[in-house]
Amino acid sequence: MTESTEVYGEHLAEFQKTAYIKGMDEYQKLYKQSVEDPEGFWAQQAEKYLSWEKKWDQVLDYDFTEARISWFSGGVLNASYNCLDRHLDTIADKIAYYWEGDNPEETKAVTYKDLYTRVNRFAAVLKNNGVKKGDRVIIYMPMIVELPVSLLACARIGAIHSVVFGGFSADAIANRIKDCGAKVVITADGGYRGGKPVSLKDNVDKAMEKCPDVETVIVVNRTDSGIPLKPGKEVWWHEEEEKTAADTFVAPEPMDAEDPLFILYTSGSTGKPKGVVHTHAGYLLYTAITTRLVFDLKDDEVFWCTADIGWITGHSYIVYGPLCCGLTGVMFEGVPNYPDFDRFWAIVEKYRINKFYTAPTAIRALAREGESHVEKHDLSSLSLLGTVGEPINPEAWRWYYKNVGKSRCPIIDTWWQTETGGHMLTPLPGVAPVKPGSCSFPFFGVDPVILDDTGEPVKFPDEEGLLCIRKPWPAMARTVYGDHERFRETYFSQVPGMYFTGDAAKKDADGYYWIIGRIDDVINVSGHRLGTAELESALVLHPSVAEAAVVGFPHPIKGQGIYAFVILKANATASDALKKELVGQVRNEIGPIATLDIVQFTDGLPKTRSGKIMRRILKKISAGKLDELGDTSTIADESVIDKLVENRVNIE
Ligand code: WTA
Repeated sequence: MTESTEVYGEHLAEFQKTAYIKGMDEYQKLYKQSVEDPEGFWAQQAEKYLSWEKKWDQVLDYDFTEARISWFSGGVLNASYNCLDRHLDTIADKIAYYWEGDNPEETKAVTYKDLYTRVNRFAAVLKNNGVKKGDRVIIYMPMIVELPVSLLACARIGAIHSVVFGGFSADAIANRIKDCGAKVVITADGGYRGGKPVSLKDNVDKAMEKCPDVETVIVVNRTDSGIPLKPGKEVWWHEEEEKTAADTFVAPEPMDAEDPLFILYTSGSTGKPKGVVHTHAGYLLYTAITTRLVFDLKDDEVFWCTADIGWITGHSYIVYGPLCCGLTGVMFEGVPNYPDFDRFWAIVEKYRINKFYTAPTAIRALAREGESHVEKHDLSSLSLLGTVGEPINPEAWRWYYKNVGKSRCPIIDTWWQTETGGHMLTPLPGVAPVKPGSCSFPFFGVDPVILDDTGEPVKFPDEEGLLCIRKPWPAMARTVYGDHERFRETYFSQVPGMYFTGDAAKKDADGYYWIIGRIDDVINVSGHRLGTAELESALVLHPSVAEAAVVGFPHPIKGQGIYAFVILKANATASDALKKELVGQVRNEIGPIATLDIVQFTDGLPKTRSGKIMRRILKKISAGKLDELGDTSTIADESVIDKLVENRVNIE
């Protein structure tokens, strides 16, 4: 059976009874309308999904050449109002989050009213600490309730939040603080992972040494660590909250539709991570509609997205999308293998979760442990399984489908990016059968095209090419913070008039899309993006390193692993101890998510005569595809290749 003929449609009959979008005809009709009349389509959705203080003057205005995109200009609203206040009349006592601690005994049920109260009080805390509309706030926190509270409190007063994932280092925090000019940092003393407390505040302390302009650090007491705070600059969250009345009300700031809601840093192929900017209206609308329709979530259902809020997936599908729709979600502080490898399934059973959304890397890691962990639990509440972050290999897909979904839940493979804000290519559960490894069809309003090397649309099914998007959609990023030219150049200059995704894809004869992976120098490690340039810069900071080239290679669990080729300075000696030091060096610079899997010392790298490193060849060597090195005649010194091959390191 070839990839594209293996189809699974067992779920369809059931979904077509109740799904919001029933069947191919309905999808195609709406899709056609959404791309032929985007203004009409999105105006209708903006009425349906959002509450506006003032309606917009113009639905869409854009110019891809200038990278200028504006949705609902003149409209006024507030994301926090849309996620909280407007639900109070109807669903104040509904659970917004079931919060599950790292320790399974520690749980909380947070209602919409509770969340509203906490957000208002914390919005007052922010104001009391001098935060104003437009100010940037860095958030570095574990997965505790104070995290979404922080996001929504910022949104409420019009401050721009920028969450830094807890797995990033002190330097990464410092770089982001400096890049966006944040005056306030919100953090916690620590968090719990796998039964152990992990300190976070240490990293913030180190970052502070480089960021004298930060005025206030607000610290949640999560682990009772008893750490001392620096008077004048650092304050405890709970003490600040106690200074506000229990019924504090902070009026939601009226925000222009196009005002920034947040910045999220993401890696690209060159330079430092970019601060991708999303806005109040377009982003909120698009995350709300995709949450509803892609997961086909009904009001009485429970949804669990296992991502960390430090990534775009958590922003869109733990915080903004589900809350805007008034849904019940689960938030999990811990890790999939603590207390045991059945933790995910224990949580599904405990909260009777209906729709579950995770990453291929987690599925592969859990599949490796065998079916017994899944079989221990009653998963009959599940009706839909989602995946995101990287291509899912068909074996992992089938394992997920059969063992978790019991061959009755569709796998909703959602392709999207930090820059796209929400799902772009994805199955809808009531529309069509799904195929393992394919992300099916474009969501409403998304107009994809696959281009060949000459920039023309590919002509045949299954022909691989570069995936671009021809028209704007509401949740697309608007700029790179502080560097609009970089935004324009990265996403709109490669193929004039189109948004450039950086991914290769193909479309089969049935119209299903298949993502091949990044075509640029971005490595996708466990669904997390890392730029080779960042990794290489971190390596060459080490005094023994003269030059480094980093590539991604196929890794059985992580999807891609990190393979570093390192040339040492003449006075340095290669050793296992030095390898360890280099691994530590990169972890210190970027964070534990950037752990090198393999370090190979070498005397030379394959370069063109003009001195450019030929990564294509390094990728083949790292993947062990030694018979696919292709044409090596343009290499300045061909003998380099033999040595590299000879000393190649295999993953244990
Ligand atoms: C990859 C995560 C295949 C892709 C939401 C993209 C995927 C990058 C999928 C964005 C998928 C994401 N199938 N590949 N379903 N989802 N990717 O910004 O290469 O962290 O460009 O956003 O992940 O990663 P990001």
